[in-house]
Amino acid sequence: MKLWAGRFSKEADSRLNDFNASIRFDSRMAKQDITGSMAHAAMLGKTGIIPQSEADAIIEGLKGILADLESGALAIDYGCEDIHTFVEATLTQRLGDAGKRLHTARSRNDQVAVDLRLYLREEAAALVGQLKELEETLCTVAKANANHVMAGYTHLQRAQPITFGHQIMAYAFMFLRDIKRLNNALENMNYCPLGSGALAGTTYPIDRHMTAEALGFTAPCENSIDGVSDRDYSVELAAALSLVMAHLSRFSEEIILWCSYEFRYIELDDAFSTGSSIMPQKKNPDIAELVRGKTGRVYGDLTTLLTMLKGLPLAYNKDLQEDKEAIFDAFDTVKMCLDAFIPMVATMKVHPENLRAAAAAGFINATDAADYLTKKGMPFRDAYKIVGQLVALCIEKNCTLESLPLEEYKQLSDVFEQDVYQAIDLDVCAAGRTSFGGGAPQSVLTQVESLRSTLADL
Ligand code: ARG
Repeated sequence: MKLWAGRFSKEADSRLNDFNASIRFDSRMAKQDITGSMAHAAMLGKTGIIPQSEADAIIEGLKGILADLESGALAIDYGCEDIHTFVEATLTQRLGDAGKRLHTARSRNDQVAVDLRLYLREEAAALVGQLKELEETLCTVAKANANHVMAGYTHLQRAQPITFGHQIMAYAFMFLRDIKRLNNALENMNYCPLGSGALAGTTYPIDRHMTAEALGFTAPCENSIDGVSDRDYSVELAAALSLVMAHLSRFSEEIILWCSYEFRYIELDDAFSTGSSIMPQKKNPDIAELVRGKTGRVYGDLTTLLTMLKGLPLAYNKDLQEDKEAIFDAFDTVKMCLDAFIPMVATMKVHPENLRAAAAAGFINATDAADYLTKKGMPFRDAYKIVGQLVALCIEKNCTLESLPLEEYKQLSDVFEQDVYQAIDLDVCAAGRTSFGGGAPQSVLTQVESLRSTLADL
């Protein structure tokens, strides 16, 4: 029997039911639906809109439903249209008339809006927790590798000396912004739509401040039409999640490169690698590849939500039911990715000797050689040109700047002295980048400490 059976003279066609129903995916909001209903019932009792005794009975009934769902004594009836219908029908079955009073001064439109906010609030908070765990892992890896010199890249060409810890901390700062973005979204969304009714508010003397407070919201939404039709928070969260995936995906790409035989900067733990069905020698970074691959799903979820809202007239439209699968999928995907990604990074083995070997081969101290001349008074552009010629000479002679004899240096400029070899020493070059935010080991440790203290306040 449909909620709206009074107006209709025909039973709903089963094809309509199948198409229209959302219980398959909104049943995961059962707890939030019950929590929202308990706050609503308490308010109905307190304001005298329904007798206190009935409000109490409703609240007890709802508690019983929640307990039975959690214990498995009560199974969700997937024949119902949605989770709201199921909870109300079960309550009415158990309580009779009192159950039928729960929906006084409420609509499923404000009900679903409050359920979704409650649900996503918990999901976002849990995700922040996971990201904090990732941050702790990255800080540990960065600290352990603060001294390990490697080539930093631009255009995927070896560019300048950095440390492995510096590169890792770059990711840590991306995820720190992600945490802040999620927290901002949480703050922005923490307004309660309950009591907006279908769209226009209600003639009952409801107390929206009471329900907002009971449910942990900052305040009630100030416009009932906006209250039932706003899904900005889903978009904000999906955007924040999209950036989490962008960062995970960039990181994954590097991990995939780094563990290839050509780089061998790292080795993934056997427990977080896969093999091949045919090639016995293979050890594949499937986790990183899947994370990279799943990024598109989350971007797709964001696009789904934005497109759903585009051109939607006020207030509630059934299109809004499409929000749930998209935002749920985004959260499920990011959570799953982090679950696998964090231990993969925590257990990966870094090969400092290979980092150094690659760093030694790519003329990444060329900038430092130019800076050497500049620090002795030569204008940078002139120094740049001379070192460019030196690099060309090295390529011709198949040697490095370190092994090029001083006479060759002097041929191009007599400013060069023996101390140039000290100036272009890789460790010296890396350790010298002490500018704020630079790649020197000491700077990496400073970054770790700063990030940890910022995190502690988030
Ligand atoms: N299942 C619906 C949704 O997720 C609940 C709200 C239904 N409201 C309505 N007027 N049909 O959006």
